[in-house]
Amino acid sequence: MRNIVLIGFMGTGKSTVGKRLAQSLAWDFVDTDCVIGEVTSLSVTEIFRRHGETRFRSEERIVVARLSQQGQIVIATGGGTVVDSRNLEALSQNGIIINLHASMEAILSRIGHKNDRPLLKGTREAIEKLWTERQVCYAQADFTVDTSQKNIDEVVSEILARL
Ligand code: S3P
Repeated sequence: MRNIVLIGFMGTGKSTVGKRLAQSLAWDFVDTDCVIGEVTSLSVTEIFRRHGETRFRSEERIVVARLSQQGQIVIATGGGTVVDSRNLEALSQNGIIINLHASMEAILSRIGHKNDRPLLKGTREAIEKLWTERQVCYAQADFTVDTSQKNIDEVVSEILARL
């Protein structure tokens, strides 16, 4: 069985939905950020702080290449994973790619005050610019589910119905 790969901007629900989706299918769930954390023994924030984004992206590419070799897993990617076309290509070879979309408003209200993501530290304008620039990458998914107005169960049901 091919993997199910969730892509999309930060705060669109990739990890939460991915876990629930994997439970529904009785498949394993993998979050690329968590694997990078295990491999490096550092949190994403720490990798960015100590080594910079370039190092994070190279760890991410290695993890993506490895996970792409497996099958029957639900993979939640990081928001920037598919900005690198090599990652999208690797993930697509053995996976169905699902874009979780959410409006800027929904994203900002979800991340609220407990935001520790390095790339969401900027102004609203900077975040919005990144969100806009990345839509073209996310649009390459096999299909998109808008999570803005939906709860987790609704998103999971929609994905299961469209698989
Ligand atoms: C990033 C998103 C984060 C994490 C890192 C970079 C991005 O993952 O990979 O902070 O470039 O959008 P989430 O989308 O799970 O927050």
